[in-house]
Amino acid sequence: MEKKYKIVTYGCQMNVHESEKMAGALRRLGYEETTDDEEADLILFNTCCIRENAENHAFGNIGALKKLKKRKPSLIIAVGGCMTQEKGKTELLKKKFPFIDVMFGTLNLEELETLIKRKLDGQKRVISVREKEGEIVEGAEPFRTSYPNAWVNITYGCDNFCSYCIVPYVRGRERSRRPEHIIAEVERLVKEGYKEITLLGQNVNSYGRGVDSSFAELLDKVASVEGNFRVRFMTSHPKDFTEDVVKVMQKHKKIMRLIHLPVQSGSNAVLAAMNRRYTREKYLAEIEMLRRYFPEAEVTTDIIVGFPGETEEDYLLTEDLVKRVDFASAFTFVYSKREGTKAATMEGQLPEEVQKDRIMRLVELVNSLTRKKSEKYLGKTVEILCEDYDEKKGLYLGRDEFGRMGYFKSDENEIGNFINLKITKANGISLFGEKV
Ligand code: SAH
Ligand code: SF4
Ligand code: F3S
Repeated sequence: MEKKYKIVTYGCQMNVHESEKMAGALRRLGYEETTDDEEADLILFNTCCIRENAENHAFGNIGALKKLKKRKPSLIIAVGGCMTQEKGKTELLKKKFPFIDVMFGTLNLEELETLIKRKLDGQKRVISVREKEGEIVEGAEPFRTSYPNAWVNITYGCDNFCSYCIVPYVRGRERSRRPEHIIAEVERLVKEGYKEITLLGQNVNSYGRGVDSSFAELLDKVASVEGNFRVRFMTSHPKDFTEDVVKVMQKHKKIMRLIHLPVQSGSNAVLAAMNRRYTREKYLAEIEMLRRYFPEAEVTTDIIVGFPGETEEDYLLTEDLVKRVDFASAFTFVYSKREGTKAATMEGQLPEEVQKDRIMRLVELVNSLTRKKSEKYLGKTVEILCEDYDEKKGLYLGRDEFGRMGYFKSDENEIGNFINLKITKANGISLFGEKV
């Protein structure tokens, strides 16, 4: 009988892609995928620690496996990702969940195959978390699950040390992949039929240190690869976002007119305390520059409310900025204190009621802007790349070059096809249309 694995992923796109790499390793060991706990011979948790609730989720779900493991002692439980890489967390996990068999970190992901083998060879617990980042390891094939999109790492780690953020502590220093490795991967993916390439880095704009390239040069090369596909990249950092990138976008129709540019706050005092190293004026000037080239360009963002010391005036400046920029969508978060970061020791930590009140107001504002935006597309025809089928709605869905999502009906499997959609209905953030 086939051995089966199940992977549970928390966190960002980086983690989603790393789960694909972990799946690649497990398949090389002869495992096949399942989504059923009962059927699995190995359950792997790829954890995230960006906010407290991400950690609580993982703790809860790992804890819930205690009974199953008792009933089925041969089940291998493995834990990797950002949480195991956090100071003291491996020890805590070990103590709290003595039934975990294998633990590894983000910095030694490539060892997963060897670690699982050691477990299969009879070692009781295999725990190996590397403290410092090593050289980038190329060549291990991921098992991709996001067709027609393919994720491609361009940098690993982060050197920015935003004062609230744990990523630099759990992902190590920023390293850039060599451009020739990236281009070779993109060429291969396009040949295999992938239609959307998403370049991934915590701050794509700082790509290139040590490999003698800039992000704009890399983007130009990626978009110059022949074939019918499009290119996205994330995340852009406002402190480093420059016009040369927008000029490359203008040169290539293949690059989506969509930028994810996290602003975090609209108040200069808060931005300074966050160590973001830009001002609201600089941010607004970048949006203006982008829209000089592409008046219709869509911008998405991340916002944190309730940062230590944030006053009501600071918060209102965030609201004001949100209205000015008119974001296509925004991921909104309540500040979460992360042990070991600078912000954790700052004065002025805010009570939960204040944070909750601000997040509710902000979500309301963001939703109202998004609703207004979608209504503008009624009657228009847009080209979307069909990326999935929604079982509940019984509809296919995809995004246009601005990242706007559209749903439609079809009798054929349309996933991976570019489709012209005439928008007939706008409902909140979703657009509905007919294939034309
Ligand atoms: N590298 C990206 C973001 C990575 S984390 C960037 O710099 O924009 C994704 C988002 O999580 C961040 O943009 C931020 O809005 C949010 N985030 C990070 N740390 C957080 C914390 N301690 N509390 C709440 N939100 C946080
Ligand atoms: Fe975190 Fe800032 Fe790095 Fe983004 S740029 S990962 S928010 S430290
Ligand atoms: Fe991503 Fe969470 Fe790690 S957001 S980088 S998986 S801490």
